[in-house]
Amino acid sequence: MNLLNGNEVAKELKGKIKKAVEQLQQAGKKTPHLAAILVGSDGASMTYVNAKAKDCAEVGFQSTVLHFDANISKEALIQEIIQINNNPEIDGLIVQLPLPKHIPEKEITETISFKKDVDGFHPMNVGYMFKGLPCFLPATPYGIVQMLEHYNIETTGKHCVIIGRSDIVGKPMGVLMLQKNCTVTTCHSKTVNMKEICLQADIIIAAVGIPEFLKAEMVKEGAIVIDVGITRVEDSNHPKGYLLKGDVDFANVAPKCSWITPVPGGVGPMTRVGLLLNTLQAVQNS
Ligand SMILES: NC(=O)c1ccc[n+]([C@@H]2O[C@H](COP(=O)([O-])OP(=O)(O)OC[C@H]3O[C@@H](n4cnc5c(N)ncnc54)[C@H](OP(=O)(O)O)[C@@H]3O)[C@@H](O)[C@H]2O)c1
Repeated sequence: MNLLNGNEVAKELKGKIKKAVEQLQQAGKKTPHLAAILVGSDGASMTYVNAKAKDCAEVGFQSTVLHFDANISKEALIQEIIQINNNPEIDGLIVQLPLPKHIPEKEITETISFKKDVDGFHPMNVGYMFKGLPCFLPATPYGIVQMLEHYNIETTGKHCVIIGRSDIVGKPMGVLMLQKNCTVTTCHSKTVNMKEICLQADIIIAAVGIPEFLKAEMVKEGAIVIDVGITRVEDSNHPKGYLLKGDVDFANVAPKCSWITPVPGGVGPMTRVGLLLNTLQAVQNS
């Protein structure tokens, strides 16, 4: 069993991004600038936004966090986004999800200019991705593809089973693996015979959100397993009061795998790098 070490790959890619920023600056071009909108004070969302700002600093990007009260109106938030769309200083914009119930995510996602949509959620970017054209790819699937390429994992002709069909992970992951010449099967909560399907997989990508969902008896010998799941599970013995659990029963699945991602330290850091790569791309596009 070999570990797909997201921390190491992310570190290497961040080094490359930092060099690219220095080259942009030497060529008199602008420093990439990411803006993040945070609405409300959800603990996990605040942690994610702060981590993204820290990543930006690490690679030499500028970053701005715009923090709004949970009561901000939909109209006011849309105005803020339009201002950023029109601000040439800012190259990429993300709105941290989830949003409060009174703000429809779809309308917000579609207000962000697709040229600054470094999360890759805008329908224009989704459409370009579908056709295999240059676009901003959603950060998690993008990061996973970067990791597979880093480790020279063969994908052509392989059967890739994806568990989960969300717009931000499962569905785009299927499109990207198809583009990498996999035969793709996407499973979800209504899938019948999940175990039999998974047992046929050369590559399994689990994006379910149920801790330890993927059991050893669902995985064939030598498979490659990518664990996207991160669920906070209460643990009073841990200083933070919780543990992060993946969707894979790692202790029992790992011995059967040729390659597997750990949680934490697998897909998480690669997702963060995906966002940085998109923000760099936004400047290179302009
Ligand atoms: N590491 C990272 O950077 C990163 C990034 C993004 C997400 N995540 C994590 O990845 C996990 C998935 O995220 P997401 O946004 O894709 O979640 P999501 O929107 O909740 O989607 C979960 C998917 O799992 C499917 N599912 C639920 N129960 C199932 C079951 N019993 N059998 C088979 N499929 C089932 C759902 O099927 P239906 O469509 O039929 O309901 C759905 O398609 C979460 O733990 C999330 O925190 C991690």
